[in-house]
This record gives sequence, structure tokens and C-alpha cells, in this order.
Amino acid sequence: MRSFTDRVSEIDISGIRKMFEAAGTDSINLGLGEPDFPTPAHICDAAVDAIRRGFTRYTPGAGIPELKSALSEKFLRDNNISVTPDEIIVTSGASEALHIAMQALVEPGDDVLIPDPGFVSYSALSRIAGGRVIGVPLVDLLLDPDVVAEHITPNTKVLFVNSPSNPCGSVQSKKEIQAFAELAEDYDFTIISDEVYEFLIYEGEHISPAQFTDNVITVNAASKTYSMTGWRLGYLAARHEYIEQFFKVHQYVQACASSVAQAAALAAVTGSQDCVRDMREKFRKRRDILLKGLREMGVECPTPNGAFYLFPRVGDGDRVASELAERGVITVPGSAFGSYSREHIRISYAASEADIMRALDIMGDVLL
Ligand SMILES: Cc1ncc(COP(=O)(O)O)c(C=O)c1O
Repeated sequence: MRSFTDRVSEIDISGIRKMFEAAGTDSINLGLGEPDFPTPAHICDAAVDAIRRGFTRYTPGAGIPELKSALSEKFLRDNNISVTPDEIIVTSGASEALHIAMQALVEPGDDVLIPDPGFVSYSALSRIAGGRVIGVPLVDLLLDPDVVAEHITPNTKVLFVNSPSNPCGSVQSKKEIQAFAELAEDYDFTIISDEVYEFLIYEGEHISPAQFTDNVITVNAASKTYSMTGWRLGYLAARHEYIEQFFKVHQYVQACASSVAQAAALAAVTGSQDCVRDMREKFRKRRDILLKGLREMGVECPTPNGAFYLFPRVGDGDRVASELAERGVITVPGSAFGSYSREHIRISYAASEADIMRALDIMGDVLL
């Protein structure tokens, strides 16, 4: 028998993947965590142009200077934070950014606080880094600063903040974000702020913890904002002492992000943002259709102010997700996201209105 490290072999494959594997080919897929829109044409054109002019080699490790400058301007414009181009690493999706930060920050004996329910990667990446995962139960689907404070230990190294959140779609207030930043300073830990759904906010505003503390890694990506999940283009920003260490991991696991994807991301960040607004309005409409339909069935579902997920309480989430899958609607059971959300399912509305209407009919049979 071959032996593998405990930190890898003890990790289960994502509960989201399991649902897809169980699904029939003609199922309606409300399990997806990616926008269903094509990447906007001007972004694709920039990539094609990059290929044609031979921009197909390694780039500088931390990213092409033009993109890092554009991102530095973006941080000031959209997030009100001052980040120099040297404080940015362009990565292969937000996933790589999360991984390199965890590898450089966490070692055995360190505690990592993650929202529970929370995005599946936080727990897996913490364990791969050797850390101990401490789930912080959400209050009304939000991370509450007092509850976070109760879970801090002398070994707390990292707190994940994800607003708007996957799987809940909830958006943290400025007051809460400020309180997380104060905790990070008082107890000397680092916040990893995952902001990939930054532009998918329907009510409320997006606030970056980096406005209030330097103890923070700001992680973002082109993936959700510009419907570019397959391009694998993300980035992180942090103060120099972090970047120095993160860059070593990035250099050895990735060398650099894709040259073509960087050219595309440059067009995305510097071009018209109308495409972002258009996609957001379509998502908002779908969210409202789904919410109305679920509430008419008497399902308890808070209005999510961001991302493209609904996280209703449905009783036994595993049973409901399986029954829906058997009838051809894929959702994800709340148990995939932590131990405090077994009564929920995650419904993604990154699907056409027609599919959402058909799914609602089927949900009526299972949920009523
Ligand atoms: C909260 C969150 N962070 C990060 C990611 C990964 O993003 P990327 O595709 O850029 O690696 C996802 C993808 O679903 C996500 O939902």
C-alpha cells in the first residue's frame, strides 16, 4: 500500500463535485459556482491579439507591469486602498492566491478561523498547510465580530473573511469589517479577505478590510467579475513583508500566471465596466425570481445581497439535495460548506431564467 501524507489523504473531494458526478446529463444545473455568461468580446479580442503578436512566453513572475499598475489603480478606485504595483502578485485564479498565502503563513500548531458555512477551499487549504481549522458559526448567515472574538486562541494565525459570501450570498457591513480589522491588530493575526464577488452586490456596499489594517491579504480574481473562470487569472495584494514570502511559493508552484490571460485581464480591468453592470442586473433579476418562487412555497430564505447564491433552510439539506438531483435539479447540500449548515442547500442562480423557472416547478414537488 502506498502511503500519502495525512494532510492530503484525509481531505475529502469537494461536496460540490460529488453532486455533479451524481447528476444526469439533462439535469438543470443550479450547483455551479461560475457565471454562465460568455467572457465579454473586448476581453476575448485582447487575448486573441496577444496570441497573434506572440505574447506567449513566461512573463515576469509577479505579473506584467501594465496589469499590476492597472490593478493598483483599481484598488484605489474601487476599494479605497493604496497598494503599489510591487505589493501585487498576479496568480492563477484566486485559488492559487489563497494557496500561496496559506503555505507562507500557516504551519502545524497554527489555528485558522473560517466562516462556517464557508467556501470549501478554506478548510482544505488550511489542512494542506498543516493548520487546525476552527469553524466560526455564522449568525443570520453573517460572520459576527463577537463570535469571531470568542473563537480566537493564542495560536490564531489567519481569519478568512469572504464578503459577498459563498455559499450564503451575504454582505458584511462596514462596521463588521472594521471590527475584524481591529481584532487582527489586537491579536496579531492576518485576515485573508476573499473579494472575488466584490462587484456582485445588489444591496449594500463592498468594504475591504485593507482600508483599516495592514494585517490583511486582499484576494481577488477576474473569474466572477468578468465571467472568466476558465482563464485562471487572480491576484493578491499585501504589504511587502508578505509579498516577499508569497512570491517564493508562487515562483516555484506557478512561475507566472498565463501570459494570454494577463493580456485579457488588462483589457478587462482597464476597459468599459458596462459588462459587469449588465451581468449584475441579470443576476439580480434571477435572484428575485427564485426568491419569490421559494417564498411562495413557504421556504425560509433570507434575501442574499450579493454573489449568485441562495442559501435556504429546507430541513435535511442532504436529503433535499439528493431528491432534487433525482428529479433533475442540481443544488449543493449545506453540509458541503461546514458543520453548521446541514439544514440548508445552496442554489446557484448562474443559470438561465428558463432553467430557473423549470427548476422552481420541480422544487415545488420536493419542497412543498
Ligand atoms: C469565495 C471564492 N473564492 C475563490 C474562488 C476561486 O476563484 P478562482 O476561480 O479565481 O480560483 C471561488 C470559486 O468558486 C469562490 O467562490
